[in-house]
Amino acid sequence: MFTPEKEREFYEKTLEFLKNLGKVKRATYKEAKKFVEELREIIRFHDYKYYVQSNPVISDYDYDRLFRALKELEKRYPDLITPDSPTQRVASEITGEFPTVKHYTPMLSLDNAYSEEELREFDRRVRQITGLETIEYTVEPKLDGAGIALVYENDLFVRGATRGDGEVGEDITNNLKTIRTIPLKAEFSRYGIRLAEIRGEVVISKEEFNKLNQERVEEGLSPFANPRNAAAGSIRQKDPKEVAKRKLEAIVYQLSYVEPEESNLETHYESLKILHSLGFKTLLKDTKVCKGIEEVIEYCREWEERRDKYPYEIDGMVIKVNNRKLYEKLGYTSHHPRWAIAYKFKPRRAITKLVDVVFQVGRTGIITPVGKLDPVQLGGVTVSSVSLFNEDFIRERDIRLGDYVVVERSGDVIPYIAEVLKEKRTGDEKPIEFPKVCPSCGSKLVKLPDEVAFRCINIACPAQSVLRIKHWASREAMDIRGLGDATVKLLFDKGLVKDVGDIYYLKLIDILKLPGFGEKSAMNLIRAIEESKDRPLDRVIYGLGIRYVGSTTAKKIEEVIKSIWDLKEVPLEKLMKLEGIGYKVARSIKEFFNRHENIEVIKKLEKAGVNLTKKAAKKVSDVLRGKTFVFTGTLSCCSREKAGEIVEMLGGKFSNSITSRTDYLVVGQDPGKTKLEKAKKYRIKTITEEEFVNMIKDYVNLEKIKEEEKTGLREPKVGRLF
Ligand code: IVH
Repeated sequence: MFTPEKEREFYEKTLEFLKNLGKVKRATYKEAKKFVEELREIIRFHDYKYYVQSNPVISDYDYDRLFRALKELEKRYPDLITPDSPTQRVASEITGEFPTVKHYTPMLSLDNAYSEEELREFDRRVRQITGLETIEYTVEPKLDGAGIALVYENDLFVRGATRGDGEVGEDITNNLKTIRTIPLKAEFSRYGIRLAEIRGEVVISKEEFNKLNQERVEEGLSPFANPRNAAAGSIRQKDPKEVAKRKLEAIVYQLSYVEPEESNLETHYESLKILHSLGFKTLLKDTKVCKGIEEVIEYCREWEERRDKYPYEIDGMVIKVNNRKLYEKLGYTSHHPRWAIAYKFKPRRAITKLVDVVFQVGRTGIITPVGKLDPVQLGGVTVSSVSLFNEDFIRERDIRLGDYVVVERSGDVIPYIAEVLKEKRTGDEKPIEFPKVCPSCGSKLVKLPDEVAFRCINIACPAQSVLRIKHWASREAMDIRGLGDATVKLLFDKGLVKDVGDIYYLKLIDILKLPGFGEKSAMNLIRAIEESKDRPLDRVIYGLGIRYVGSTTAKKIEEVIKSIWDLKEVPLEKLMKLEGIGYKVARSIKEFFNRHENIEVIKKLEKAGVNLTKKAAKKVSDVLRGKTFVFTGTLSCCSREKAGEIVEMLGGKFSNSITSRTDYLVVGQDPGKTKLEKAKKYRIKTITEEEFVNMIKDYVNLEKIKEEEKTGLREPKVGRLF
C-alpha cells in the first residue's frame, strides 16, 4: 500500500510535526487548514502500520500527541472537520480475512490523561454532570494487548470478535476457543442473564513474549515489537492450531451488554466479581475501589512503581465510575465514554547513541546483530545493549552506526530501539555491515530461503557447540545443576566436553582442575550429572536442540515413540500427522537424524546410561493418566484453574462440566448445585478437596503454588512444580 519512498516521506513528516507541535497548535486558520490535512494523512499512515501490518514505526505516546494535535485544531476550527477525519471514528482497519460481526454496543476507546491534573479535570467533569460531591471510582490496570468482545448466550460462548473499527469487528471465535482462560460455558443464568457481551483483552505475559521472540529469531522470523503486537498478531492467524501454540490469555474487564436489561447490577466492581465467579480471568484482585480522585491518584502512583513486577505489560491505569447507574447520565462522546478515562504512565524512553554493533551466533547458527549503546538509565536499569534482531530490522528502520536512537523499555521486556533520530545525523554515521563469515568459526554464512537471518551452518562451530551444551544442561532440558554457562565454557575451552555426550564421561579429577571448584562442588556436579541420566524422554528430545523442536513439540513426539531411536526411523509423513508438526519441523527432525555426528552423540549418551526410552518418564507425570476431573466450589489449596493445570500436568484431564466420562468431581466450599446433581445422576465419584490434595501432594509443591498465586507474581513453571 505504501512504497518505501512514501513510507520514508511520512516518517520524516512525522518527525517534523512532532518537533513543531507547539507551532501547530497555535496555527492561524489558514495554516491550520494545511496542517489538518497533513496530520490526517500521517495518522492514516500510522494506523495502517499499526493495525494492518502490526508493525508500528512510532510509539503510542507520539501517536497520541499527533492525534491530540489534530483534535485540538479541529476543536478550534470546527468547520475544518471532515467526515473522513481519523478523529471521526475509532481508528482501525478490517482486512477482510475474517467474517465481520456487529458489536452489541460500540467498542469505544478511552480518553487519555497524561498527568494527575488531567485526572482531576476528569473528576471535575464527572462531578459537574452528576451533581455529586464525591465519586466512587474503580481503578484497574490497563492491559496492553488486543481488545476482544465475547458473547455468551444461554450460558454458552457463542461468539468472539476483535475490536475492528469499534462498530464492526472480525469474528475470531474459533481462534478464541483455543484460549484456556475463556470458559466455553459460563452460568450467567445464575444471575438472570440470558445474553452477555463482555470486553476483555488478549494478552501474552512478558515471560512468554520474550520466549516467543527468541524462538522467532531462532526460526529466522521477524520478532514482534512488543507484547501487544504479539497478541494482536496471534489471534488473527488463519489456523486455530497455530493460535493454540502461543501462550495467550484472555482477561476480561467490562460487562458491556446484557439481556434482559440489567436491573440489579449496581456497580462495576460487582460485575467484576460476577465475572470472576463465573470462571473468567479478571483484574479483580488488582482493582481498587477509591473514594474521590485523590485516592485514585495515590493508587495510580503505586502502580507506576509496581508495573515492572507485573507479569503482563501495562501502559497505564483505567479509572471507571463505579456506579453503573451513572453511565447513562454521563453519556458518551463519539469516541469515549464520559464515565471512564485511562491514566497513561510516563513512557520509559531515553535518547542515546549507537556506538557499535557486534554479531552473536545462536545455538542453531543464527547470527544476531546486537547494538552497543552509550549506557543510559531507563526506569532504574542501565541499558547498554539492544538486540537489532536481523538485517531486515536494520534496513527497514535505516539504523546506522553513530545514530542517536530512542530506546524504550517496558517491564522485563528486552529494551528495543523505538526510533532513529534522523534529524540528529551529522553525516558521519556509517551503514551497518553484515559479516560474510561466522564470527566464531569463520565459515561462510548462508541465508536460507524464506528466512530473514544469516546462519552459520557449520555443525562444529565452537559458539554453537557451547550453546548446545548449555541448552542440554538447562533447567527445561536435563536440568544439571552446577553446569552453568561459565562452567560449560571452561569445559569446552579445555577440550573436556566437545558435545553433550562428553558430559557423562567427565571424571572428578577433570572437574577439580577447573578454577573455582573444590571437592564438594565437584562432587555435587558429578552427582547432578548422574541424576540427569534419568530424565524423561521428552526432556532428552528437547535437550538435543533440534531446530523448531521446543518443549511442547518434544512432548507431542514423546507420546508416539518408545525410544529415541524410533525417531531415526519414523517416516516424515507419520511425524507430520502429529498435532503442531508441519513439514518444516518434520524435515528438521529428519535432517538431525541424518547427520552421523548427531548419531554418534546419541550413541555416546546411550553407552553412558542416559535414559533414551519412555519408561522413566512415567513415574511422576502419569499418576492421573486417563482420569478426568471436574471441580466445583472454591478450593483452598489453589485456584480451580491452577488445580486443572496440575491435573493435566500429572497426565489427567480437566473439564468444566460433568459428562458420563468424568471420573472425579472435587467438591470445594460452596459447591454449585447443578454439578452435584449431575454427578449423582451419572454416578460420578465425588471427593473432597483433602482427598484430591492427597492424590497430588507428593508430586507438586502446593505451598509454593499458593504463595505464587497470592502474590500474583510469576506463574509457576511446569519444571519447578516437581
Ligand atoms: S474498559 C468503554 N478496562 O484499552 C470502556 N479497557 O483505549 C471499555 N484496555 O479498547 C474499555 N485494559 O482494549 C478497559 N482495564 C481495562 C482495560 C482496557 C486495557 C484497552 C481496551 C480498550 C482500550 C481503550
